[in-house]
Amino acid sequence: MLNKKPSPCIMVIFGASGDLTFRKLIPALYDLVADDLLPPEFAMIGFARKPKTNDQFRQEMRQAVEEFARCKPINPTIWERFARALHYQQGDYHTPADYQVLLRRLEAIDQAHGSGGNRLYYLATPPEVYWPIIEHVGTMMCPTDTNNGAWSRIIVEKPFGSDLDSARQLNEHLHRWFREDQIYRIDHYLGKETVQNIFVFRFANGIFEPIWDRRYVDHVQITVAESIGIGNRGSYYEHAGVIRDIVQNHMLQLVALTAMEPPAEFSPDAVRNEKVKVLKALRVDTSRGDGTVRGQYGPGRINNELVKGYTQEEGVAPDSTTETYLAMKLLIENWRWAGVPFYVRSGKRLPRRVTEIAIQFKMPPLLLFSKRTAETIQPNLLVLNIQPDEGISLHFSAKTPGAGDAVQPVIMNFSYGTSFRTPAPDAYERLLLDAMLGDSTLFTRSDEVEASWALVTPVIERWQEGGGSFIELYRAGTWGPKSADDFIAADGRKWRTL
Ligand code: NDP
Ligand code: BG6
Repeated sequence: MLNKKPSPCIMVIFGASGDLTFRKLIPALYDLVADDLLPPEFAMIGFARKPKTNDQFRQEMRQAVEEFARCKPINPTIWERFARALHYQQGDYHTPADYQVLLRRLEAIDQAHGSGGNRLYYLATPPEVYWPIIEHVGTMMCPTDTNNGAWSRIIVEKPFGSDLDSARQLNEHLHRWFREDQIYRIDHYLGKETVQNIFVFRFANGIFEPIWDRRYVDHVQITVAESIGIGNRGSYYEHAGVIRDIVQNHMLQLVALTAMEPPAEFSPDAVRNEKVKVLKALRVDTSRGDGTVRGQYGPGRINNELVKGYTQEEGVAPDSTTETYLAMKLLIENWRWAGVPFYVRSGKRLPRRVTEIAIQFKMPPLLLFSKRTAETIQPNLLVLNIQPDEGISLHFSAKTPGAGDAVQPVIMNFSYGTSFRTPAPDAYERLLLDAMLGDSTLFTRSDEVEASWALVTPVIERWQEGGGSFIELYRAGTWGPKSADDFIAADGRKWRTL
């Protein structure tokens, strides 16, 4: 559990009338206050175009906390204290005068709360609005000035760019006013306990690391499956597809954490240096086709409910060719992983929500067993269950009790639920606290985000030029297009049944 308290600050959320603020940021802040992890001088001001008074904003945020906070029921004393720290300012993202008003409000809040001049800016608007906000905050609030030792940091939500060029431009724009160590690019997957545990599992245990390489690992499968569709995010998703929405960020982070070398120390730069090395060594295997399989969900049934197809969703073109499923074969061209395929797949409207990393080990020689028994022996498998059944399982062979030499696969399980018995904090709790503490280990660095775009941009460009895999329709509630099975079968392997 989190155990350090940051120095006081004011968090400024741009786009505070939106969904992210309501469902994630405010509930996470309340939970941090309820766990006594924020200093009493902490304050927050929301900035957005919709008119609201402080009181209206506080009432709405109360609803947000009631619905989405982890610490329930709401404690009235804690709520009162938290509510007094919440402020709201109506403003336009392009109008300098509105930032002047914001500046004065910040000074007044500093006076009233004793927040010491420290600022945490949070970009929670659609990405096109990031540009004017960065510029106006940059020119008017002088973030690199350290008045009396006060700090300024900026958290940038995903998507960070839409291809390599736009990511580079956004990095350059940010670097005009913020130093790299002041920029916190969020990938909320890194805030998940199970994702952080990949690092601990690998480097705090002696028995796995010696076999974590091409000599012992046959291949790795990473799955990010969701049963939800695109909801009301059609206009965003049409331009994103699963490659930008999940693969460029969450999926590649899982690959990097699984494949990275142990860093020399647990510092933000040492950890991120190792992840960048993996991202730079990654290639999409194009030895067969373009190394991808694309699919789009059609109508179908999930949990016995009829659901629409992607092209019937609001905000989606009836002839859309946006992919809602993607499978890829990645290779890591370095000493540890040469020749070990990393198969990754992600999709919406699959039968259930599951994110996992499965490491399949090579078969031992089975000379000691009868042919019949040898045929039943499965390779060892280590599965890191990221969500929703958080845990780790090791699959191995055991002798079936009784006469004869029959062998059957068994599973040894570790489950967070039974081992720790406390609900894990939400990813945003950890990430907000780390940003306030000035620890950027769980945030992506500029070269890291560019390296991940450098991998996926050529794939997107091939698709745009009309090349690459065709888009196959799959029925909602199934495990994706049939061609995804053929894709992995061509290597003599198959997707795990989940
Ligand atoms: P919303 O669409 O809810 O937008 C947030 C706020 O931004 C709105 O309330 C609105 O406030 C303002 N806004 C919306 N559209 C525009 C526009 N075209 N021009 C100017 N202002 C606009 O977004 P979310 O809260 O869902 O997400 C915010 C950011 O976080 C996005 O970049 C998103 O990709 C990212 N994100 C969101 C997640 C989520 O769970 N919601 C998860 C991961 C990332 P007003 O009109 O009052 O100014
Ligand atoms: C977001 C994507 O980044 O991650 C969504 O934009 C996706 O499309 C979500 O549903 C998944 O997050 P989680 O934490 O539910 O796995």
